[in-house]
This record gives sequence, C-alpha cells and structure tokens, in this order.
Amino acid sequence: MTTAALDIAAIRADFPILSREVRGRPLVYLDNAATTQKPRQVIEALTHYYSNTNANIHRGLHTLAEEATAAYEATRSKTAEFIGAAHPQEIVFTRNTTESLNLLAYTLGARLRPDDEIILSALEHHSNLVPWQLLAQRSGAKLRFIELTEDGEFDLDQARSLFNPRTRIVSVAHMSNVLGAIAPVADLVEFARAVDATVILDAAQSAPHMPVDVGALGVDFAAFSAHKMLGPTGVGVLWGKRELLADLDPFLGGGEMISVVNREESTWAALPHKFEAGTPNIADVIAFSAALDYLSAVGMQTVRDHDYALTAYAMERLSTIEGMEIYGPPGPERRGAVVAFNYADIHAHDIATILDSGGVAVRAGHHCAQPLMRVLQVPATARASFYLYNRESEIDALVDGLREAGSRFGLSV
Ligand SMILES: Cc1ncc(COP(=O)(O)O)c(C=O)c1O
Repeated sequence: MTTAALDIAAIRADFPILSREVRGRPLVYLDNAATTQKPRQVIEALTHYYSNTNANIHRGLHTLAEEATAAYEATRSKTAEFIGAAHPQEIVFTRNTTESLNLLAYTLGARLRPDDEIILSALEHHSNLVPWQLLAQRSGAKLRFIELTEDGEFDLDQARSLFNPRTRIVSVAHMSNVLGAIAPVADLVEFARAVDATVILDAAQSAPHMPVDVGALGVDFAAFSAHKMLGPTGVGVLWGKRELLADLDPFLGGGEMISVVNREESTWAALPHKFEAGTPNIADVIAFSAALDYLSAVGMQTVRDHDYALTAYAMERLSTIEGMEIYGPPGPERRGAVVAFNYADIHAHDIATILDSGGVAVRAGHHCAQPLMRVLQVPATARASFYLYNRESEIDALVDGLREAGSRFGLSV
C-alpha cells in the first residue's frame, strides 16, 4: 500500500484551515477521529445555500422552498448511494451518531421485555453504551459485553457464547475510536441471525474511513456523523432496512413527521419523514452533499489505503521511542487510522499540551470510552488519528514532539 494514489498537495489546498499556524508553527491536525476539517467545497456549499436558497423544506410551494427541498432530498439519495442502501427512504437525518443510536434504543426498546438481552462490547463509545443502559433501566433488559483479546480485538469465542434466544439486539462499533480495531461484522451477523437478533453498527469511525456497504455487511441498522467525514457538524445519519424502520414507532413528535393530526391522536408520515420531526438542519445536510462528492471523487478504497499506509508508518515510528505503549491490534491490517498510546509515565494531557506547543493537535483523555480505559488499566491515553489530507511528515512532527516531551520529563530519547 502506498499513498501515491493521492495527490496530497492538491487535497490540502482544498482545506483552508490546513494553511494556518498554531503557536507559530504550521498546524499538524491529528485529531480526525474527533472531527475532520472541511474542504472549501463544503464551506462554499453552506454559504451558497444561505446566500441563494434558504427556505424551509417540504411545506413551501414557492421556488426557494422547492429548491431547498430538492437539494435536501438529493443529499438523502447521495447518502444512500454512498453506503449501498437499497432506497433513499432508508436514510434518516439526525443530529449525530449519538442521536441515531438513541433513536434506535428508544424505538426498538419499546418492544423489549425484562430479561431480554442486549449485546455490546467492552470498547464501545459512550454513545453506544449509555442509550442502552437507559433502555435496560426502563425495560429490565440485561446488557452483555463482548470482551477483548490481548490485541484489543473482539474475542470471538466469548462473543459466540453470549448469543442465546433472549438476545434481541447486538450493537457494536464497526471501528473503535481508541484501538482502531475493526469489528468482525460477518461473524456477529451470523451469530445474531441464528437467534433472530437485530444487528446495529456504530459506523461513526468506519463510514468516514473505508468503503461501507450496508447491504453487503448484512446488518439491520447503522449510524454515523457527517462531521467526521468532511461534512458540517449537526448532521447524523441513521440507516435502517426499510421494513424495519417502517415497523418502528416514531422517536420525536411534532411537525413534519405526521400524516393526519386529530385532537386525541395522529397518524405518521411515510418513511423517512416519520423520524424527522420539526425543521431539520437543512443547510448542513445540503452541504454534507459536497463532502460525499469529495470522498466519492477520491474513492473510499483510496482513503482506506492512505489511512493504512499512514497508520503503518505511525506505528513503526512510534515504536522506535523507548517507553511507548501503543494500544490495539499490532498491525494496520485490522485497524483504522487511529493510534492511541501512552508514553512512559507522562500523563496523556501533558503529552497533548506539549505537542500543541509545537502545533501538533492530538486528543488526550478517555475518548468517551471509560469502560475501555478500565480494561486497558489506564486513566487516559493520547491519540493521533489521520485522514486523507495527512502526510508522513506530520507523523514525523508528532514523533519530534514526543521526543521533546520525553526530554522535558527527563527520559532518555
Ligand atoms: C465510535 C464512535 N461512536 C460514536 C461517536 C459519537 O459521535 P457524535 O459525537 O458525532 O454523535 C463517536 C465520536 O467520537 C465515535 O468515535
């Protein structure tokens, strides 16, 4: 794998923020798992919308309303195509992955009975844990957890043993935001089908970084966020098989999601509008279209190959530093472009602060995965995460910054 397929200089020229300086040094942005930067095409789509089209959608009969509605619905179709959904009606726009997963926990949860079981994993982001905890408290359902191997991957034998006739739902991260580990989706789908359980993928980290074809994966629902894939904040996607979404009751009630409203009760709009109550985030959904165009033009396999090469390079360079502990699968084959680490006994927050003084932006903390931190037996980690505009020289800057941190803390570097 090489990064030769990407013209990184041309890509970087599309991202205005990448030419700014931080603390007198060129910005090295390695916090892409938290949110990605935006190309000018997305920024321009936003200003173009507000300068030319702004109107409320679905209800107006004037030209602006029709144009805004068409652009909003065009993004829905593009999103469906991007993830291999069978129909645009299968795409529901929410605020983020978190809201998509809460929608599922709330609506699917209405059918759970005490002692039904929900399978999650030990590495879940709080977004794919807390909604299920709330559901378990409401319904009496039990949470079960897939444990991890030494390499931070799902322990498949233990996972298999969790599935039983009481299993109703399995919901896991397609790609871990800490370990980078990629879930064995085909196995989980096989285990789930044998007991007729619903399979949900938290695709917040995978949809931005690899080709994701929901049909080929064979899952029932998937959730992800536009802001982690070059798009604006405030737009989430929930994909679900049409017959499954159609069968669920609404999540939020209000305008737009109804068919007929009487004083005492109402009927619901057709999919996907049943799940989009109130005025949605029209401008940002429309600008998300430009992000999808950008990624499609590059090609998701090319993004994956680039991530792979950068991750391999980062792991190799970091492992040359004495005292470096890298978490997750040992090679880039079964992981995404996320490298979480601790360096000797320097606190992750100190690492991030020292790196920032050299213009290098990384994340430090529990990464919204406190139960995973307990498995790793650390309070926090530092985390570098890459995207299509990153280059090897930025990983060199990260390594230089880490050596600087080491020498400030009196380590031999
Ligand atoms: C694996 C995973 N799931 C869910 C989320 C939540 O995404 P959002 O904050 O956009 O709802 C994140 C964000 O970091 C994530 O990495």
